[in-house]
Amino acid sequence: MSVLYKADPDRGRAWSAIFARNAPDIEFHVWPETGDLTKVDYLVAWEPPPALVEKLPNLKVLFSSGAGVDHLDFSTIPPDVPIVRMVEPGIVDGMIEYVTLAVLALHRDLFDYMRQQAAGNWQPIKVVPAAARRVGVMGLGVLGQAVLARLGTFGYSLSGWSRTAKDIPGVVCHAGADTLKGFLNQCDILICLLPLTDETKGILSQRTMAALPRGAALINVGRGAHLDQQALLDALASGHLSAAILDVCVPEPLPEAHPFWRHPHILMTPHIASMTQPETAALVVLDNIARHRNGEPLMGVIDRFKGY
Ligand code: NAP
Ligand code: GLV
Repeated sequence: MSVLYKADPDRGRAWSAIFARNAPDIEFHVWPETGDLTKVDYLVAWEPPPALVEKLPNLKVLFSSGAGVDHLDFSTIPPDVPIVRMVEPGIVDGMIEYVTLAVLALHRDLFDYMRQQAAGNWQPIKVVPAAARRVGVMGLGVLGQAVLARLGTFGYSLSGWSRTAKDIPGVVCHAGADTLKGFLNQCDILICLLPLTDETKGILSQRTMAALPRGAALINVGRGAHLDQQALLDALASGHLSAAILDVCVPEPLPEAHPFWRHPHILMTPHIASMTQPETAALVVLDNIARHRNGEPLMGVIDRFKGY
């Protein structure tokens, strides 16, 4: 039994130690050391080289080392090889922390206070009660729902939008493209936690931003390709949007001269909102390998047709 890991090499060493401790019968190879490629049963990967999967004739399952699977070219993966996305507590906790940080920063006017401090201006801004702040999440999956559960503890007025209908206590749920405008109309803070698919590419568009209330703010922790960058610059310039917190962009990193870098109303972070944690993720993959060996259903298999 052999596993090949082709993702962050530092974290790969931690994965290797966890496999050695918990499943010494499984060979674990950290790229570029691969062992015999024809013997690889399971691949754990982030952005694998295009031809890699072709060289693995015995591949049984492809595990994405992250929650998203948009970095994989499905056409290169044999149809009988299930693709499993990462669903693990470390990613969930990281995303809860980041989005809570971002929402609180926007809610409590941190951007304004940073600008005021730079200008030597001591000027209180009226506090809006959390219940009067309308926070909406696009994408009500594992991460969207976890984030909403935590934001609920602050008392925000919560709503969410997904493809299929949901019933989440304390959250007004909207489903389907026809409901998008109504959902957006009442979001003071909009959080994008969608997967990147053909349907969601560019969804943070001029039209989407125009549907938000004047002064709204955007948090993008989905993928950079969700966002129309020029539409954001225009919405900030006109004052229709007040701020954006962006963890993802296209390309990553942005070129040095890109206007986002020094924009006074944009805060960027280098795709760190949430990271797969070896301590929890390796155990989740081990559990899935055991399921596979026992002929049980795998957890987190994506639907290639839907793209997530
Ligand atoms: P998930 O559990 O698969 O949930 C995806 C959600 O998006 C579902 O609620 C789904 O609706 C909804 N959705 C998909 N297509 C849609 C559409 N066309 N219209 C409306 N809703 C749609 O995914 P997750 O684990 O929460 O992760 C979400 C994404 O977060 C990942 O794909 C990744 O891009 C991003 N992410 C970013 C970071 C970071 O560090 N920045 C870290 C981890 C993940 P249904 O429920 O109806 O299917
Ligand atoms: C990170 O972006 C992930 O998809 O896990």
